[in-house]
Amino acid sequence: MTDVLLLPGDGIGPEVTEQVRRVASRLANDLAIEERAFGGSSFDQFGAPLTDDTLALAQASKAVLMGAVGGPAWADAPRHLRPEAGLLNLRTGMAVFANLRPAICFDALADASSLKREVVQGLDIMIVRELTGGVYFGQPRGIETLADGQRRGVDTQVYTTSEIERVSRVAFELARGRRNKVTSAEKSNVMETGLLWREVVTALHAKDYPDVQLEHMLADNAAMQLVKNPKQFDVIVTDNLFGDILSDEAAQLTGGLGLLPSAALGAPGTPGLFEPIHGSAPDITGKGVANPLAAILSFEMALRWSLGRADLADRLKAAVVGALEDGARTPDIGGTLSTGQMADAVIAKL
Ligand code: IPM
Ligand code: MG
Repeated sequence: MTDVLLLPGDGIGPEVTEQVRRVASRLANDLAIEERAFGGSSFDQFGAPLTDDTLALAQASKAVLMGAVGGPAWADAPRHLRPEAGLLNLRTGMAVFANLRPAICFDALADASSLKREVVQGLDIMIVRELTGGVYFGQPRGIETLADGQRRGVDTQVYTTSEIERVSRVAFELARGRRNKVTSAEKSNVMETGLLWREVVTALHAKDYPDVQLEHMLADNAAMQLVKNPKQFDVIVTDNLFGDILSDEAAQLTGGLGLLPSAALGAPGTPGLFEPIHGSAPDITGKGVANPLAAILSFEMALRWSLGRADLADRLKAAVVGALEDGARTPDIGGTLSTGQMADAVIAKL
């Protein structure tokens, strides 16, 4: 059985996943690692961003580790063949409905944030984004031409109670192992799905998690509070679209987009999908300067959440923190190390 399916993808994806391979062979050389094309590179080779074979292998692996997808080369491809469509199909095909996006400010990097040090120092937020529903997938959707010649675009935001409940459960469980607080973000003041979201979270809290502190916050206010006083948050649970936006905002607070991993999880016992939060970064592709830490920390999350190797995850995390404390820096965080040298610094700590 494949332990880890690597999907390097596009842009800097292959550059950073190559470093994951090096770290993995140092840390856990018993892992069975497979690799497949994904995103634009899969489209170029096979005519589809995610082939049936690759999805089947993903479903049969213990963990899937992705680099990044997308880039200007595929911007004009039809929507269903774009690299991003491959990613959405992978998420639904693996049924990974809960997306854990940590925003952690490493002490060594507190000055790299665009916010003041005292606002972000020690920041440790976990955003739990619903990942397989909402407006990303709701029907009907499309662009039609009206009788008067205008065009009309439609997207549909839709959630069921079970979709809201299962992702909220993940948030409450996580909070118990952290600072025991969940903030649920929606727009219940204007949206029906927002109102349902609030009702379902409130009921689940009362039934199974009364010991956890629950707070409801409108998503626009949450966006503001994130830059005003981000340390008030512990776990934030929110829908697919708000989670997409709030997680980018939270990542920027830490000053290190190149450092943040993510984990997408489904039902217990099913494989997780792990990916750096950064994108394919066409502007620096091929230059050997991409920061590999987000990918390496995504592997750390895979060890912890899907491979049952929390011991190795702890060692890897300590090695990353140690390398940063020693001053190891790629250009995105103010240094001069290459992608490979940054991985060397982590491997040296192992
Ligand atoms: C993300 C990305 C994706 C999303 C894109 C690439 C489809 O922005 O993972 O946050 O919108 O979910
Ligand atoms: Mg995004």
